[in-house]
Amino acid sequence: MVDRTLADSFQTIGVEYDRYRPGFPDAAADLILPEQVGTALDLAAGTGKFTELLVGRATYVQAVEPSEPMLDVLRAKLVDVAAHLGTAESIPLSDASVDAVTVAQAFHWFEPEAACAEIARVLAPGGVLGLVWNHSDPTCAWDRAAHRIAHPAVGENDQTTGSAAEDLPGFEFDSRAVVAWSEEITRDDYLRRWGTVSSLLVADGRTKAAMLAAIDRVLDEDPDTSGQTELELPQLTEVYRYRRIA
Ligand SMILES: C[S@@+](CC[C@H](N)C(=O)[O-])C[C@H]1O[C@@H](n2cnc3c(N)ncnc32)[C@H](O)[C@@H]1O
Repeated sequence: MVDRTLADSFQTIGVEYDRYRPGFPDAAADLILPEQVGTALDLAAGTGKFTELLVGRATYVQAVEPSEPMLDVLRAKLVDVAAHLGTAESIPLSDASVDAVTVAQAFHWFEPEAACAEIARVLAPGGVLGLVWNHSDPTCAWDRAAHRIAHPAVGENDQTTGSAAEDLPGFEFDSRAVVAWSEEITRDDYLRRWGTVSSLLVADGRTKAAMLAAIDRVLDEDPDTSGQTELELPQLTEVYRYRRIA
């Protein structure tokens, strides 16, 4: 069952999300769309961090997102993308109108059965569904420690963002791949990034301050980050590809 309080936490954030959250590697979009398609929809598009990778890989790009502040940023950045307010469970597009649907860092916020039925409805027969998540790299002790602080309920195994089941109703599983990459991020921005995750967005002021202080201490104490103002953060991007069953 999806925690709607956490899922809806993004209703209040846009500019900060765009400023501090990571993007996605080109390779992730290439795995989903190795060839150009006519129309692609980025569902739960946020501020357009994955949507921008669809530009050039699809002739027409559409975006659907329930948060107005997120959409405002997306519309300002990606003026050629048709952006709509909507949810995965009620997509404001007509039947069989898109060739590909992508969902980055968001499928775990959907009611899966209703969302799969809607995605299947808007996809043309044989159309492609791509699900994408950035994950922390298990070899990066300080980032893993920060994840455990921000998501205490998730425990050792991470992954806060879940993963797709290979079986999705109405879809045929095609492939799963993991793209390893890394980003340079300042220590300050890394801390501010944590302020944009759902568990901190819904936390009261004291709890949020305590979590950020605990992450700050991790950076002070870990030999790879202690005294550093610039951090090298490894990322693993997991990509699932499906086809709509005709
Ligand atoms: C972690 S953000 C990911 C945004 C963007 N795809 C990215 O990767 O930067 C999760 C997004 O899912 C959206 N979301 C939450 N519940 C949703 C739902 N039921 N249908 C569509 N989008 C939803 C939120 O508003 C938020 O923009």
